[in-house]
Amino acid sequence: ADTEKGVYAHYMLKEINEQPAVVRRILTNYYDTETSRIPKSLISAIQQSDRIYILAAGTSMHAGLIGKNLFEKITNIPTEVHIASEFAYQRPLLSKSPFFILVSQSGETADLRACLVELKTSNYQILTITNVPSSTLAREATFALEIHAGPEIAVASTKAYIAQIAILALLANSITESSIDMKKELSIVANAIENFLANESILTHVRNKLTKPNCFYIGRGLDYYTGLEASLKLKEISYIQTEGFAAGELKHGTIALIEEGTPVIALISDPKINHNTRSNLNEVSARGANTLHIVTSNCEEPEDEIILDTVHPLLTPMIMVVPTQLISYYAALERSHDIDKPRNLAKSVTVE
Ligand code: G6P
Repeated sequence: ADTEKGVYAHYMLKEINEQPAVVRRILTNYYDTETSRIPKSLISAIQQSDRIYILAAGTSMHAGLIGKNLFEKITNIPTEVHIASEFAYQRPLLSKSPFFILVSQSGETADLRACLVELKTSNYQILTITNVPSSTLAREATFALEIHAGPEIAVASTKAYIAQIAILALLANSITESSIDMKKELSIVANAIENFLANESILTHVRNKLTKPNCFYIGRGLDYYTGLEASLKLKEISYIQTEGFAAGELKHGTIALIEEGTPVIALISDPKINHNTRSNLNEVSARGANTLHIVTSNCEEPEDEIILDTVHPLLTPMIMVVPTQLISYYAALERSHDIDKPRNLAKSVTVE
């Protein structure tokens, strides 16, 4: 059943391995059945807006960052991402016709509820994207979409993040006459995740590289956003102090922290900026960093350790994040931490 671990030692590992199936389930639900298609009223509400505001917390906020890129590239509607707990009390200047997308796995996060209550008093149109259709946020919004990830038990979110991005992608793609065949592109992503999971050797890399109490992820563009999620995941369950950094920004201060053996994990999935990130890698290597390269095949160089299948450029985070989820998992396993229930964390946070 969905709520049992089955052959897996931990829910987190089970949920990581479910990801190809989750993406395929989304495709079935949104393309092959009438009931869960994206409603026309939602599409026209977004079409009429002049700016999209994505509000979320934690991992869902990181999915929102990928959503921003999808919306801006596909629909041309400017899109901002805000941390819910900040937006609730420090609202930015809004556009004339804003549309709000609240992204929340649980649909119960109090920081988002605070935003929702405020926005409803101004009669704004709100979409919530959740994994729980009966949740508070799903019930109280103007529109609700379900991510179909199935119950996520591990506190550290994995499959919900992938599912949130998939829903944001197909939503963005339904707003305009898009040239992207999103059903096809997402099924390529599902295959790419499956290919990687079938042959991964992440544990060896974790043993060789993550030998210090700190770690850096670096990347540019979408890989920077993936690095933010990757570093949150590693912090959450391994308790290794990790920072996700825009690769080009590291040299403007934080490079001072690089010592002999400091782990620096580079994420490279964009051929246009492949060279730039590699020059940042050279800078940290020259200062003793112990580097690990996670790349897509269209960026591959001989020295790279983890090579993933190339997918549609707007969807690369969905494949790039997967090895980083396993890095977190194995780092926590090596340290004998309680992987599914990390200290101090709750699956859904219902206090502000
Ligand atoms: C908690 C969880 C995080 C999650 C965040 C947002 O802090 O520990 O894993 O990303 O809440 O949760 P939501 O249910 O709103 O996506």
